[in-house]
Amino acid sequence: MRSNSNQVRLNNGMTIPVFGMGTYSFENDRKATENAVHMALKMGYNHFDTAQVYGSEAALGNALGEAISNGLIEREDLFITSKLWGSHHHDPVSALKQTLTKLGMEYLDMYLVHWPVRLKPWVCHPLPQEDEFEKLDMETTWAGMEKCLEMGLCRGIGVSNFSCKKIENLLDFASVPPAVNQVEMHPMWRQKKLRDFCRENKIHVSAYSPLGGPGNFWGSADVVRSPIIQSIALKHKATPAQVALRWGLSKGASVIVKSFNEERLKENIRALDLKLEEVDLLEIEKMEERKIMRGEVYVNKKTSPYNTIQQLWDDEI
Ligand SMILES: NC(=O)c1ccc[n+]([C@@H]2O[C@H](COP(=O)([O-])OP(=O)(O)OC[C@H]3O[C@@H](n4cnc5c(N)ncnc54)[C@H](OP(=O)(O)O)[C@@H]3O)[C@@H](O)[C@H]2O)c1
Repeated sequence: MRSNSNQVRLNNGMTIPVFGMGTYSFENDRKATENAVHMALKMGYNHFDTAQVYGSEAALGNALGEAISNGLIEREDLFITSKLWGSHHHDPVSALKQTLTKLGMEYLDMYLVHWPVRLKPWVCHPLPQEDEFEKLDMETTWAGMEKCLEMGLCRGIGVSNFSCKKIENLLDFASVPPAVNQVEMHPMWRQKKLRDFCRENKIHVSAYSPLGGPGNFWGSADVVRSPIIQSIALKHKATPAQVALRWGLSKGASVIVKSFNEERLKENIRALDLKLEEVDLLEIEKMEERKIMRGEVYVNKKTSPYNTIQQLWDDEI
């Protein structure tokens, strides 16, 4: 296992390992997911990210359950995050119970509201259409999240894709403040304003798509191909992915990176051993920001649901 220093404390007293493995893949192949989780566990990964809508909960739970039975790891040494999809805002307790059944676990470490978006109850796919949205009543949703915590179904609750303004509204009525805000964050979308806001409010930022999602149809290889990132990598005999990941860690975020490939899983976790210099971080600050890499795919399409979602996000950031 990696050392305890690779953890940060959350506002609820828990610790979160700063290096997490993402499990969303477009193909959603159960065997490939299980295999990747097995490889990752052997390399020292202990923080795994899933969501109801990814369809990866069962495969993740299966692989982790097997590792626990074989004595490779104990449940207490794992940090598992899953997320409430927009179609279940009316009943987070039932949604989390379903998630736990799929995972074969008794509790989650972190349960997040996936998007500040409410969908009609039957919309269980990641690409909702315009007419599938419902009016968001975050106060009711959050009361359900707090109920999950009270019932011991999860150890912590948080949000994902929430702007400063959305968190501010939430803090007005929350009895339990969110411990985590998981957002897209990488050297080309640095989230400075949101990071500052979250720090002031003791909310931990977790970075998803920390490489910008290279190779994904919604993402871009621009981060890992950037000449600035490449020259910093060359200087440190590291890889561009390691530089991007270390940058996220240097900002106090945890990073949630997906790879199902053995070599890249190894390469990525070695970012924990990389040290960047102040001058490298300053160089990265100079990079042109191109928020919403996936926006290039979605935002320009008038019919796209993400037109709506990204506008919700972008207008308020
Ligand atoms: N909360 C949310 O709304 C939200 C949204 C998106 C994602 N997430 C979470 O964050 C995780 C990661 O995000 P992401 O998958 O969008 O982006 P990412 O981790 O930045 O990129 C993943 C892509 O990069 C490739 N890759 C991995 N390591 C690499 C390396 N060292 N060099 C070059 N390419 C590499 C992967 O392919 P291989 O598998 O072939 O290596 C995969 O195609 C997801 O799995 C999910 O758990 C959350």
